Amino acid sequence: MPPLARFGVSIEKSLLEQFDAIIRDRHYPTRSKAIEDHIRQIIAENEFSKDTNEAIGTIDVVYDHHKWELLNHLTNIQHDFQEVILSSQHIHLDHHNCFEIVVVKGGKNKLEKLANMIKSTKGVKHCSLQLLAAPGKV
Ligand code: NI
Repeated sequence: MPPLARFGVSIEKSLLEQFDAIIRDRHYPTRSKAIEDHIRQIIAENEFSKDTNEAIGTIDVVYDHHKWELLNHLTNIQHDFQEVILSSQHIHLDHHNCFEIVVVKGGKNKLEKLANMIKSTKGVKHCSLQLLAAPGKV
């Protein structure tokens, strides 16, 4: 475990009370753990402001599998980006809809390009990209 640092913080009392209520709701064991998580989040967001950063994440896609051209198109896109796709999972949601979760790792710009290509495909009902800084960056 890396060495720990202690520091004192002075903030408005009501702000601290609201923070404590939130971290209780979220089941944080200690205030230190909650503050540490939020510091990590700020660092990760800051890392993301740099274009060349490695990231890991998922692309969640919902589409109607009855549109055959759409299926082919999505498969072609994923083959073109196979170097950043770690895996994908297909879930048959209902008679019409498929839910695909694509796990990705690579340069942030490339992952955003992949998600945008999927999102702009005709027939895709939902497409969202969730990214985290790659481990070791935070
Ligand atoms: Ni399906």
